[in-house]
Amino acid sequence: MSTLLALHRPEDVPAAAANLLHAFPQSRVFTFNGPLGAGKTTLIKALCTRLGVEAGMASPSFAIVNEYRARNGEPVYHFDLYRLNHAHELEGIGFTEYLDSGHYCFVEWPALGQGLYPPGTVEVAMDLDADGGRSLRINELQPR
Ligand SMILES: Nc1ncnc2c1ncn2[C@@H]1O[C@H](COP(=O)(O)OP(=O)(O)OP(=O)(O)O)[C@@H](O)[C@H]1O
Ligand SMILES: [Mg+2]
Repeated sequence: MSTLLALHRPEDVPAAAANLLHAFPQSRVFTFNGPLGAGKTTLIKALCTRLGVEAGMASPSFAIVNEYRARNGEPVYHFDLYRLNHAHELEGIGFTEYLDSGHYCFVEWPALGQGLYPPGTVEVAMDLDADGGRSLRINELQPR
């Protein structure tokens, strides 16, 4: 399945985040592909807000993974694999354990982890449109 969604303005992002969580209630791993500045972090922050994460959302570019706390007390993990060079570095951070934890995992620049994402992973491809808006293509890996 592949769905196309248009975000014309930044104000459209919170609703898109809500729709995404609603559309895939069983999925816990979401990956975000797209060029620099496509809006990956912005969408992930909106997803976290929707889950009730209140504060302390920073870009994980330097930490690789940031852990937040959802409204229900569960952890939410936000990864940015941009700075990793080799897939074996993922073992060092326990990446598969996070993916299998059953908690929400949002992954920017997911390519290095290809093959590790579990069934039901939602792949979001983001693109910058000529008018400054963003387009999302959404694909679910082998639904649960
Ligand atoms: N839907 C949108 N419409 C218009 N502007 C947006 C939208 N989403 C994000 N932006 C703007 O685009 C800029 C880059 O956003 P963001 O940091 O989320 O991108 P990114 O994909 O995470 O970038 P990077 O690849 O560097 O991690 C920000 O200034 C943000 O406000
Ligand atoms: Mg980012």
